[in-house]
Amino acid sequence: MAKELRAQKLHTLVDSLGRGVNYLRISLTDRCNLKCIYCHPPHSIDFLDRSDICSYGEILQVVKTAARLGIDKVRLTGGELFLRKGIMDFIRSLSQLKALREITLTTNGLLLLPHLKALKEMGIKRINVSLDTMSKALFYHVTGSRKFDAVKEAIHQALQEGFKIKINMVVLRGLNDGEINQFIDKFAERSAEIRFIEFMPLCGSGWKGNYFFPYEKIKRTITSEYDLYPLPSSGVAQEFAVGNDRGIIGKVGIIAPVTRPFCGSCSRLRLSAKGELRPCLFSSKKIDLLSILRGGSRSDQVERNIENAFKKAVAMKTFSKQTQSVDNDVLIRSIGG
Ligand code: 5AD
Repeated sequence: MAKELRAQKLHTLVDSLGRGVNYLRISLTDRCNLKCIYCHPPHSIDFLDRSDICSYGEILQVVKTAARLGIDKVRLTGGELFLRKGIMDFIRSLSQLKALREITLTTNGLLLLPHLKALKEMGIKRINVSLDTMSKALFYHVTGSRKFDAVKEAIHQALQEGFKIKINMVVLRGLNDGEINQFIDKFAERSAEIRFIEFMPLCGSGWKGNYFFPYEKIKRTITSEYDLYPLPSSGVAQEFAVGNDRGIIGKVGIIAPVTRPFCGSCSRLRLSAKGELRPCLFSSKKIDLLSILRGGSRSDQVERNIENAFKKAVAMKTFSKQTQSVDNDVLIRSIGG
């Protein structure tokens, strides 16, 4: 069956190009316990008022409705999701929704360790941890935090517990580009997949072009020490098996939103902490779900309006080569990284 036909059969949410959309990324908070140089603008930022962010009940309502339209994969992110009060009860409620095939998390790992056992019991299998350096000193320079060991310990323990872990490393020229192969050396053999990410022009951080380290250079750095074998890539990353003279040692991905926009393989929508449904991180288009949720309509009408919002958001998904010129003030912690 042609791919488009299959997508249409499985998903009600099919974009104008025939791509089935089944993946929702949800930012649970705009707060973060790190101040990464590429994410935190130089000026101080106002966090959202608690009353302006989607409540857990509202998010559940959105997910239940979206699930009826074919959303069966949810990624929870932030900000740092473990900063939000009651997060574990919320994840438990989400994990009880039969329509969801998978719930995954993206975290900076600082507060992850104490939650691992409970997450495992809830059936969470895959966690992405953001980690840009293995050097304590550089970790402090990049994030402003001295808690590198907490992240290291959480990753170690998560691997022990059998979670599938991906390490997200934003490659920053002159800062951590010298660690690319160290990351492979350290993590590949422990079956963590490393994903090298091009620095994106977001967050009003006055996108520091001098930090930019492109896909081709990441690849060249890796192949100076390892062999790379392209794998069929299903998501936004270009995936490779990585090997040395002893054979294949693991898997790496390179995510290149700037030099190789991945619109063609993007099957996601995003729900921001303040309830905006967005078709794309690099688009200023959004639909305000919070107003729908709090507008006072009857519950069946609210549901229909949410369904229509999802259909509209999917219709807004397009191809774009404009990742360089997006609204530089987009805050990734609010939209969801
Ligand atoms: N460019 C690239 N990656 C970024 N992230 C946050 N901001 C940026 C940026 N400007 C990454 C985080 C995390 C992932 C969700 O997004 O490091 O790993």
